[in-house]
Amino acid sequence: MKSIIVYYSNTHNNELLAYDLQKRLSCDLLKIEETGKRTGLTILLDLLFNRKPKLKDHRVSLESYSDFIFVAPIWASKIASPLRSFLLNEKQHIKSYSFISLCGGIEGQVDKIRKELKTILQHDPKLVTELWIDDLLTADKKNTVKYTSSYRVLPEDLEKFKAKIDEFVSSQIVQPHLTHDELR
Ligand SMILES: Cc1cc2nc3c(=O)[nH]c(=O)nc-3n(C[C@H](O)[C@H](O)[C@H](O)COP(=O)(O)O)c2cc1C
Repeated sequence: MKSIIVYYSNTHNNELLAYDLQKRLSCDLLKIEETGKRTGLTILLDLLFNRKPKLKDHRVSLESYSDFIFVAPIWASKIASPLRSFLLNEKQHIKSYSFISLCGGIEGQVDKIRKELKTILQHDPKLVTELWIDDLLTADKKNTVKYTSSYRVLPEDLEKFKAKIDEFVSSQIVQPHLTHDELR
């Protein structure tokens, strides 16, 4: 079984998470890069017109991976459009997959994300995990998009998500097949 982390990050929060996961899982890492410049306006236009942004070519043979771990932000309760482009372009190679996001955090959103992934890839993800920036904010700033979407996550913030990240990581580790004798 070979795994790869495929990530997209606009303002580096999910990049930090992807690097952290890569260190823990010692697997390969692929960054999704766009050909165009990403701005607040292009985020809005992609959402409004369901646009599929163009990606730079990557040189990774995806058919050699049996497990995919996708890491990306959530925009308006949808997976960030560059990841959606990647999934649409590569869906024939993606058999088993999980998704994790450092996102603002909205109640009930995780079900929408699971549904969106299934619609694109035609089969259920193994696991979908959201790490909410809202959980890092002080009481006076909680539940406010202005603060969640402008927050830049620091390595020490990842410590606060340790339990959830540990759970995600352990779900990705394939237990070796033990023989009957080894089990005794
Ligand atoms: C335009 C915009 C819309 C967003 N919408 C959501 C949302 O619907 N749900 C959510 O949980 N987070 C939302 N966020 C917060 C991002 O998911 C969060 O800032 C993320 O950590 C950014 O990741 P990045 O730094 O890797 O690009 C939004 C952020 C932006 C800029």
